[in-house]
Amino acid sequence: MARTATLTYGDKKIELPVIEGSEGELGIDISQLRDKTGLITLDPGFGNTGSCASAITFIDGEKGILRYRGIPIEQLAEKSRFIETAWLLIFGRLPKKNEMTRFSDRLTDNAHLHESFRHHFEGFPVDAPPMAIMSAMLNTLACFHTEFLELEGDEAFEEATARLISKVRTIAAYSYRKTSGLPLVYPDPKLKYVANFLHMMFSEPYKQYICPPEIERALNMVLLLHADHEQNCSTSTVRIVGSSKANLFASVAAGNSALWGPLHGGANVAVLEMLEKIRRGGISAENYVKLAKDKNSGVRLMGFGHRVYKHFDPRAKILKSASDQVLALHGAKDPLVDIARRLEDLALNDSYFVDRKLYPNVDFYSGIIMKAIGIPVNMFTVMFAIGRMPGWIAQWKEQHNEHESRIARPRQVYTGPTLTDYIPIEQRT
Ligand code: SDX
Repeated sequence: MARTATLTYGDKKIELPVIEGSEGELGIDISQLRDKTGLITLDPGFGNTGSCASAITFIDGEKGILRYRGIPIEQLAEKSRFIETAWLLIFGRLPKKNEMTRFSDRLTDNAHLHESFRHHFEGFPVDAPPMAIMSAMLNTLACFHTEFLELEGDEAFEEATARLISKVRTIAAYSYRKTSGLPLVYPDPKLKYVANFLHMMFSEPYKQYICPPEIERALNMVLLLHADHEQNCSTSTVRIVGSSKANLFASVAAGNSALWGPLHGGANVAVLEMLEKIRRGGISAENYVKLAKDKNSGVRLMGFGHRVYKHFDPRAKILKSASDQVLALHGAKDPLVDIARRLEDLALNDSYFVDRKLYPNVDFYSGIIMKAIGIPVNMFTVMFAIGRMPGWIAQWKEQHNEHESRIARPRQVYTGPTLTDYIPIEQRT
């Protein structure tokens, strides 16, 4: 394979280095392009532009492959649990028993919030969007953990990681309790990560919520499937903010804000709203698909399509079969599942979607499982944030440890007015 790419422009002809990744991916290194030619590249949405080399997550969008540190997502979904996978992503390998015990103990010890921090929740209105609370409170962690504003060394990093992963869960539960007019429930140190989260979500002062093992297993898997996804919008935001040497809390708070958008992590809420609209009879599945194909409608088939996957999102396949299992536990039939299946069937047999390689993505079935567990729709994107926290931390750490990493500062092609003089207000007509 050629190790350089030739670019000819006008009377200039230059060779640009081509780098090859461990899975054979090729990238033209254009870091010298402007110096050598005066040209920049333009790629709105960065569909053809790599921002970094990374060793954390590998996706082959054409083949529907997703691996965390080389391990296929299917194996992790079946054999691992969220916190073990979090360690794998952040520290680069599966934890040994003693490391897993130490990390788990750190999560337990850090589940509570500082009492002054906890009082912040009093200030939010009862109808505050939980994702707004999450962004605010992730940033506020910087006020209560100032020793981690400068993160150096593995020990400090492991402690900061444990605090963030543990407290994002408590903040999420408290954002639900606050916006539901319920009293905040303290974490229970006897419970593991997911069971403790559901305890803080659903226990009452007079009656503790006991998490059924199969629900704990299902939610562990949902979080694990969301844990990282290479340079997606929110993770790229975390990297960009971190590239200015902003602290870890500020960086993940920015990533959380990016995740909120309905084209990204907010899609799981939009999917449920779409399914509910069809269920209530507002529109038939057939007519919704018709609308989604009509450019002028402004409607999209939410939970479908992906910038990278041009085949089934492997996470969607796992979640689709898991949704059946979770619903079977309750002996519940959810009409939304039938509607989702109908939409999927219509789209996968329609040339509009087939030609554009639009398949169900992670958000298409995740909401059905979370709804079956009892998590309210307005908390779905917050659940995505809990799941993605290890990926944000891992990617921030990878960039933070790169000695030659530079501040992210893209160029532009200017299309505004050419040289123009100031006109005093009296002379403006
Ligand atoms: C996530 O990047 C990640 O890894 C994200 C994520 C992660 O784990 O971090 O996987 C999580 O965000 C999943 C995506 C969730 N979003 C949605 O489900 C929202 C609906 N999907 C789309 O809006 C869209 O597919 C995106 C945002 C996911 C991808 O957008 P792209 O890559 O910019 O694609 P595009 O908008 O340029 O669409 C290409 C064509 C267009 O038609 P043409 O102009 O070529 O005729 O496909 C059409 C689009 O109109 N299209 C859709 C569609 N998605 C794309 N048409 C109808 N319904 C859709 N859902």
